[in-house]
Amino acid sequence: MIYPSLQEMIRKIGSDVTDVMTAHLPVAEGIERSLFEAMRYSALGGGKRIRPFLVWASSQLFHAPTKIAYEVGAALEFVHSYSLIHDDLPCMDNSNLRRGNPTCHRQFDEETALLAGDALYGLAFEVLASLEEIEASRRCLLIQKLAKGSGGRGMVAGQMRDLLGEDRPYTLEELKILHNLKTGELIQFACESGAILGNASVAQAEALKTYGEKIGLLYQVTDDLLDACSDAKTIGKDTHQDSHKNTFVTVQGIEASRQYAIDLAKEAKEPLAIFNMPQIKVLEGLVDYIRERLF
Ligand code: IPE
Ligand code: IPE
Ligand code: MG
Ligand code: MG
Ligand code: MG
Repeated sequence: MIYPSLQEMIRKIGSDVTDVMTAHLPVAEGIERSLFEAMRYSALGGGKRIRPFLVWASSQLFHAPTKIAYEVGAALEFVHSYSLIHDDLPCMDNSNLRRGNPTCHRQFDEETALLAGDALYGLAFEVLASLEEIEASRRCLLIQKLAKGSGGRGMVAGQMRDLLGEDRPYTLEELKILHNLKTGELIQFACESGAILGNASVAQAEALKTYGEKIGLLYQVTDDLLDACSDAKTIGKDTHQDSHKNTFVTVQGIEASRQYAIDLAKEAKEPLAIFNMPQIKVLEGLVDYIRERLF
């Protein structure tokens, strides 16, 4: 298939993965109808689907089956959707707008939003465990990596450090650890899962892991810049929420953050050099897409 642009490719894969997610989500009926409505509202209501795209693009280096990459991408996007619902809650960031729409707890209520997040998290692992097309050992590895990346030594640890950082300024090193955990871990999982699906060599898997680390950090640097420099209409979520937090912008300022994003983008492309194949252009292009993104 010929795509006029990377943007179009991201949209197409995102739409395919959304179809897979739709098929896995419970239909909004029965006693728990409002729970299912809230799950569908948050998981299906927009989003760039960058993480599933990364799963697909890295698995494509090894010609892994697209159908399985979509399933893993859907599972990962369920975890991401859950993390956003909980991140937006009044006890966390207290946000009103997400993906251009009211946040889950604004559209429903806090209790339903909390439970919708919980249920999406469980659904993610049900999807991975049901992947019978791949052997049990690789399925377990995917489950173990997603559980660790999203849990108390991964994304949730980052969210905890984010909260604790409201009380004192962090050093740049502490901030990098926070952002690697909060945002980097799930993005790294996307890249590493592509290597697992493709039976990559140790060196190839290591290269994708390093690429994932760099773009994970880059993703949050651009997110911090958008919070400080953009507006809610453009990015579809509340802005200027982070002035009391430790972010790249509050710790080192806007100009240094922009320069850091440029440096990270360069570093992210370096490990890809071992892949001497045309498909690598997609992962390279994605680095610039993330650095230049406007929402
Ligand atoms: C937002 O993630 C939260 C961060 C970790 C920065 P995205 O910018 O990927 O949000 P969606 O899924 O496209 O809405
Ligand atoms: C949250 O980071 C990342 C998650 C783990 C959900 P932010 O709080 O900066 O994400 P946004 O800006 O609300 O999307
Ligand atoms: Mg937050
Ligand atoms: Mg937030
Ligand atoms: Mg943010």
